[in-house]
Amino acid sequence: MEHVVHHPLPHDVPAEWAARAYVNEAKYLEMYERSIRDPEGFWYEHGSRIDWFTTYTRAKNASFGGPDGGEVSIRWFEDGVTNVAYNCIDRHLDTRGDQVAIIWEGDDPSESKHITYRQLHAEVCRFANVLRNRGVEKGSTVTIYMPMIPEAAYAMLACARLGAIHSVVFGGFSPDSLADRIRDCGSKMVITADEGLRGGRKVPLKANVDAAIAKVGGVDHVVVVRRTGGSVDMEAGRDVYYHEAAEQVTDECPAEHVDAEDPLFILYTSGSTGKPKGVLHTTGGYLVFASMTHQYVFDYHDGDIYWCTADVGWVTGHSYIVYGPLANGATTLMFEGVPNYPTVSRFWEVIDKHKVNIFYTAPTAIRSLMGAGDAPVKKTSRASLRLLGSVGEPINPEAWEWYYEVVGEKRCPIVDTWWQTETGGIMITPLPGATRLKPGSATRPFFGVVPQVVDAEGKVLEGACEGNLVIAESWPGQMRTVFGDHQRFVDTYFSAYKGKYFTGDGCRRDADGYYWITGRVDDVINVSGHRMGTAEVESALVSHPKVSEAAVVGYPHDIKGQGIYAYVTLMQGEEPSESLRKELVAHVRKEIGPIATPDLIQFAPGLPKTRSGKIMRRILRKIAEDEFSALGDTSTLADPAVVDDLIENRQNRA
Ligand code: WT7
Repeated sequence: MEHVVHHPLPHDVPAEWAARAYVNEAKYLEMYERSIRDPEGFWYEHGSRIDWFTTYTRAKNASFGGPDGGEVSIRWFEDGVTNVAYNCIDRHLDTRGDQVAIIWEGDDPSESKHITYRQLHAEVCRFANVLRNRGVEKGSTVTIYMPMIPEAAYAMLACARLGAIHSVVFGGFSPDSLADRIRDCGSKMVITADEGLRGGRKVPLKANVDAAIAKVGGVDHVVVVRRTGGSVDMEAGRDVYYHEAAEQVTDECPAEHVDAEDPLFILYTSGSTGKPKGVLHTTGGYLVFASMTHQYVFDYHDGDIYWCTADVGWVTGHSYIVYGPLANGATTLMFEGVPNYPTVSRFWEVIDKHKVNIFYTAPTAIRSLMGAGDAPVKKTSRASLRLLGSVGEPINPEAWEWYYEVVGEKRCPIVDTWWQTETGGIMITPLPGATRLKPGSATRPFFGVVPQVVDAEGKVLEGACEGNLVIAESWPGQMRTVFGDHQRFVDTYFSAYKGKYFTGDGCRRDADGYYWITGRVDDVINVSGHRMGTAEVESALVSHPKVSEAAVVGYPHDIKGQGIYAYVTLMQGEEPSESLRKELVAHVRKEIGPIATPDLIQFAPGLPKTRSGKIMRRILRKIAEDEFSALGDTSTLADPAVVDDLIENRQNRA
C-alpha cells in the first residue's frame, strides 16, 4: 500500500492557522523531544495547568513492572490535592461566570439550552447536595444511566465534587448488562431518567434500572431525572424524582479535597475474555492529560464552540465532552439525538445553528452520512467550521477525503485521534498547524507518549515496520487498575510484553514515523466505534436454550467498520430456521443491548477445532470475510470436513 502525503499543513489551509495554532512543526518536535527526555520536568511544569489545593512535589512515579515482571504501579502528582469539579467550574467563575459552558441541543431541533459556568456551578452543587443527603461521600461508587441531557454532566461533576466515583453505563445497554456493572462496583446509588429520547423514539431507562435492580439488589437509592415526563414506577423509600429532591437543598456545596490518585471514575470496557472490566481512572493525572490534549489536539482557543458527538456513556464523552473541555473553560456542545433525525442534514444544521468551530465525530457516522450523498451537506453553510476530528476506529481514506472535501471544504485539517478507554486521552494524533496529514493515519504521538512497534516475540522494531502497538512509558492519563482486580490489570496489559503497556492493536509505522492503526489483534471487534468482546456475544448466544455452541468473529462492514458474524451450533434435535435466527438476534439484544446485535448468523453443524478442542478462529474469520480461498493450513483440524460445510453455507457473499 502506497500512501501519498496529502494536504500538507499549514501551507494549504488559511494563513491564520499558522499564526493562531499553539504549535508549529518545530515547536511540536521540540516539546515532544523534551517530554521524552525529561518526563519529570515536562509534566511537573504542565501539571500546573490545573489548580491544586496542595501542590505536588513530584510528577511521575510509575513502573510497568520491567522485563522481569515486577510490580505494576502508576502514580502521577501523587502528593497533590485537588478536585476535578472545582477545576471544571469554580476556578472559571471569576473570569467566565457568564460564558456558556454547555450548549445542549435536544433530539427535537426546536429544543436547545445554554448553561453558563455560573449556572453550571449552581446545578452541580445542588445535584451534589441531593446525592450527599442520600449517603454519597468520598469513595462511594455511583452508577449513572442517563440520556444525553445536561443532568448527565451535572451528575458526573456532582460525584467528582464529593470525591465519589462514578460509573457511567451507556443508555443502550440492557438491564442485564447494567446489573452486572452495578454489582461489580457495588453501587448503592443509581442516577437515571424516566425515559431517554433518541431519533424521536423513547428509551425506557427507569424501567431498565428497575429490572437491573431486581437482579442485583444492594441499591438503596435511585434518583430519577424527569426528561419526557412519561409515567414510571417509583418505589417508595428508594426512588426519588430529582426535581423534587432538588427543591429541598441549596445550591452551595464545597468541593471535597481529594488526592491526585483518588479514583475519579470507572468505565466498563470489553476485552478478549470474560466480563467487561472496570477501567479505573484517577484524578490529577487524568485531568491534566484530558485538558492538555483537548487544548492542543483541537487547538482550542477562548470563544471557540466545540462539539464532540459522542455519548457520555463512552470514554470520549468523559474526556472530550465533559472533563477536558470544561477544565479548559470551553463551550462544549452536548447533543441528545442521532445524525439522521429528523433528516440526514442534522449534524450540519446543528453546526450552523450554534456556529460550531470544532467538530469531533466517528468514522461510522461519516460513512453513513457519506452514503446519503453531498446534497444534504451542501445545503448547509458550515462556514463556522475550522477543524474536524475523527475517533473510534481506523478511518478509511475514502471517508477521510469526503470529510475533508465535502464537510470541511478543504479548509479544515482533520485530526484522526487514536486512543482507548484505558489511555484516558488522545495518544497518537496530528496537531493542527504542526502535522502534515495523511488520510487514514493517526500520524504521530502526543507529548509524553512513547509508542513502539513490536513483533510477536516482543522484539522492538525500528524504522518502517508492522507489528503490535505497545506504549513503553507511563503517561498521566493512563488507567491505574481494573476496579477490584489489580492482577487482571497486570495480566491484560503488561504480560504479553513485559514492562510495556500492550494496546491490543496492530499497527504499521511508515518511513516518516507515522502510525497507521490496523485494528485489534485480539478477540475484540470494533462495531461502529464501539468495542465488543466476541466472548461476550458468544456467552449471550449459548445462554439461549436451543444453542449448544457459538463462535463470533468480526467481518468488514461498509458502514459499521466491522460487523458481528456468529456461527451457531444448535442443540441436538433443534432445526435451523429464519424464525430461530430472529429469536437469537433478539436474545443477544436483550442480554447485552442493541450494540451487540449480530449482523449475520450461520447455523453450523460443527465448528473447526484442533484435536485438543480449540476453535480455530482464523478459519472462521476468513470464511466470514468471504476469503475462503486463503484458509491456510487446515491439516491440524480434528475434522477437516466441517470447513466445507461452513464455506457452503457462508452468509457473507461479497
Ligand atoms: C479501540 C479503543 C478512544 C475512544 C473511542 C474508542 C480503536 C480508536 C482509533 C483511531 C484507529 C482507533 C482501536 C482502539 N480506535 N481510535 N483513530 N484509529 N483505531 O475507545 O472503546 O476503548 O476502543 O478503538 O482499536 O484499541 P475504546
